[in-house]
Amino acid sequence: MTLPPILRSKAALQEKTQAWKMAGEVVGVVPTMGALHDGHLSLVAAAKQACDRVIVTIFVNPTQFNNPDDLENYPRTEQDDAAKLARFGIDAVYVPDVDQIYPAGFATTVSVAGLTDVLCGAHRPGHFDGVATVVTKLFRQTMADKAFFGQKDFQQLQVVRRLSMDLDLGVDVVGCPTIREEDGLAMSSRNLLLSDRARVKAPALNEAMEAMAEGLRAGGNATDLGAAARERILKAGFNEVEYLDLRANDDLSLLETPDRPARLLAAAWLAGVRLIDNIAV
Ligand code: PAJ
Repeated sequence: MTLPPILRSKAALQEKTQAWKMAGEVVGVVPTMGALHDGHLSLVAAAKQACDRVIVTIFVNPTQFNNPDDLENYPRTEQDDAAKLARFGIDAVYVPDVDQIYPAGFATTVSVAGLTDVLCGAHRPGHFDGVATVVTKLFRQTMADKAFFGQKDFQQLQVVRRLSMDLDLGVDVVGCPTIREEDGLAMSSRNLLLSDRARVKAPALNEAMEAMAEGLRAGGNATDLGAAARERILKAGFNEVEYLDLRANDDLSLLETPDRPARLLAAAWLAGVRLIDNIAV
């Protein structure tokens, strides 16, 4: 297995992508912050299926972290990441130096209104501005035709769809299903930060959400079922439930019953680690 070429400058990246585009090839991008797991790799597999050329980007984007400790502690495993990508036969790993994304004097922010007022947007001020700005830059720099995002971060997926449409970026945004551990815990780079003791408790979040979704399908309402689910999550050892909401898929408006296509979305703190999950109802 040959390791994919690692490119660190936008000039090196563009030299490749320009040639691919000239040849009429379909270019796909999978944006990540590294510490790759099977969730990320499922996006790479989907991109390989749908595109002639695939670029995986690894950039721990400082502007989307609203907490300096969180940025500091974010796992960085570049060598392992490159090794995991080897078997996919992708065309490039783009690991830009910070100045390739944020050159001196950088002063522009991309901000998506509405969709970012709720859920993670309400609890992590500035987070989605950071995401929208870096994703816009990565779309431009890679010249991608298609981009692959996980439903694991459902709000992010909707924000990126909106952004690509609103700014005519011409990127087809493809949403891919959430990959889980055997016990139901959604795979996440942050799971690496859980102690063994906390890891055992972590599946309780998804279990409570599945039970709540079952109740909603049976005709229950989000207020009553939500209160029971929150209690269950806290009893299992979580410290705080930041949100546990039933929301419409398209505009993320709050629902009491799933009378339109809807998802249950949650964020909760376990032993200092913030976990998020969402499921279709
Ligand atoms: P990161 O958290 O590394 O995630 C990169 C991509 O992998 C995202 O599209 C995310 O939804 C997807 N992903 C993560 N866990 C997954 C799982 N268990 N199943 C399926 N897909 C999963 O999201 C980001 O990075 C950043 O915000 C980024 C978009 C790269 C911008 O900086």
